[in-house]
Parts: sequence; structure tokens; C-alpha cells
Amino acid sequence: MWESLKGYVKPGSVEDGLVREIDFSRLPAHVAVIMDGNGRWAGQRGLPRIEGHRAGSRSVREVTEAGARLGLKYLTLYAFSKENWKRPRPEVVRLWGLLREYLKREGPNFMENGLRLRVIGDRAGIPALAMRELERTEKATAANGGMTLVLALNYGGRAEIVEAARAILRSGRVRPRDLDEERFGSFLLTAGIPDPDLLIRTSGELRVSNFLLWQIAYAEIWITPVLWPDFRREHLFRAVVDYQKRDRRFGDVHAREGGEA
Ligand code: FPP
Repeated sequence: MWESLKGYVKPGSVEDGLVREIDFSRLPAHVAVIMDGNGRWAGQRGLPRIEGHRAGSRSVREVTEAGARLGLKYLTLYAFSKENWKRPRPEVVRLWGLLREYLKREGPNFMENGLRLRVIGDRAGIPALAMRELERTEKATAANGGMTLVLALNYGGRAEIVEAARAILRSGRVRPRDLDEERFGSFLLTAGIPDPDLLIRTSGELRVSNFLLWQIAYAEIWITPVLWPDFRREHLFRAVVDYQKRDRRFGDVHAREGGEA
């Protein structure tokens, strides 16, 4: 077991059992998560929806720490989609407020734990106060060598692909015959980040919801009925154990090694 997990998982606990099943030489390098079910979690408790998001931000904290201790290189969280603007205004305002609170609170932990922050999404549409905080944290953590936490904010997969096509045309530097998948990928918001090996979706919905459409071409998908505010380290470990049982063939007939870039 990695040193970083000692003292983090209680000996003899369910988490301990799961961690012992993990082959650390075959970890997914990049795990992406569609965090869903905050509203239902709140509804089940007779609470306003924002309380579900507040509880969801505690899960963000837990999963970020668990992912970093596990040794993931990238953890991408779908925190606000381009479609989320359709929600009632007070919910939208409070969601961005929660994000700012989270950044203020977690900023120091990012430095302590060597985490890097990267934002993907349409930055121009992100509220100015939140954007300022995000840019500050991105800059402050840019040289850290630990896990990169990628926050997808004001993000849409189709919009990202269209924007990449626009950037290619604008650049005037790419001849049609020189455009291949690698080159195209370098114009996406995720340039330099390996594709997710594992995509987790909570709350049991069977959709990809416009998330990383290009990048999840060969991702293994793990769906759990657990609502995001109830998602804990145990669930992340379970997803990784299950991922390692999959036979990743990438269209070939034989399994090929993914992960661990
Ligand atoms: C989906 O649940 C969740 C969201 C749209 C927002 C996710 C936000 C957080 C987890 C909190 C803040 C983020 C950070 C990074 C600190 P839903 O509201 O669609 O749930 P429902 O489908 O049950 O209504």
C-alpha cells in the first residue's frame, strides 16, 4: 500500500479491504466524475437544493484527497455545465458562491498537498469574482507536482469541439491533410491532459451529459446509484477495483495497458 494511504484508511475497514485489492502499478492515470444527485439528496431530507450542493462540496474535498493519496495524476470534476445556467437564478448564484467558498477554504490545502488546479470551460462566461479566485489558485499551484484537479466549469463538450475547430481555422496554420486526432486534441481545452481512463457517474443516471465527449472515447464507465453528497473514498476505491477488472482492448482483440501515463 502507498505510504500516503497509511493512517488514511482504518486497518480492517471496508476501505482497507478495497485498497488491498488495488494494483498500484495499473492505476487509472485520469479519473473523471459526473457529480450528480445533489438536488435529490436535499429533497430526500426536506432541505433546499443548495444544501445538497453544500454537502456535495464536502464530497469534492473527500474525493480530491482520496484521489491524491491513491496516486491519481488527474481528477476531473464536472462542477457546472453550460446547461446549468437554465436553473433558477438563486441556485446558480449560490453554486458559484459555494465554489468561491471552496477555493478560499481549500487553497492552502492545495499548496500543502502539492495539488495543481486547472479549469476547463468557457472562461469568458464564468462570473468575474469566481474567475479571479480560480485564476489566482491556478497560478499559485501551477508548479506543484502532485495530482491535477481539473474543474469543468461553464463547460460543454460540443461547445469545446466547435471552439477547437474555430481555433484551427483562425490559426490558418493547419492544412487539412495535416489535421489528425492528436493535432485536433491539442486545440481542445484539455490539451496536455491524457484522456480519462475511468468515468464515474453518480445517482444512477445513464447519460454522459455533454461531458468530455471527445476525450471519453475509450474511457471505462462506472455508474453508481450513490448520490454525490454520499460519495466517499470507499466508492472511489470500489470504482478503481472494478476498473482494474475490465479488459481494455481499445478496439483490438487483446487487452492493452491503459492508465499510468
Ligand atoms: C448535480 O446535481 C450537481 C451540480 C449541477 C453541481 C455540482 C456542484 C457541487 C458538487 C458543489 C460545488 C462544486 C465545487 C467544485 C466545490 P443536481 O443538482 O443535478 O442533482 P439532481 O439531479 O438530484 O437534481
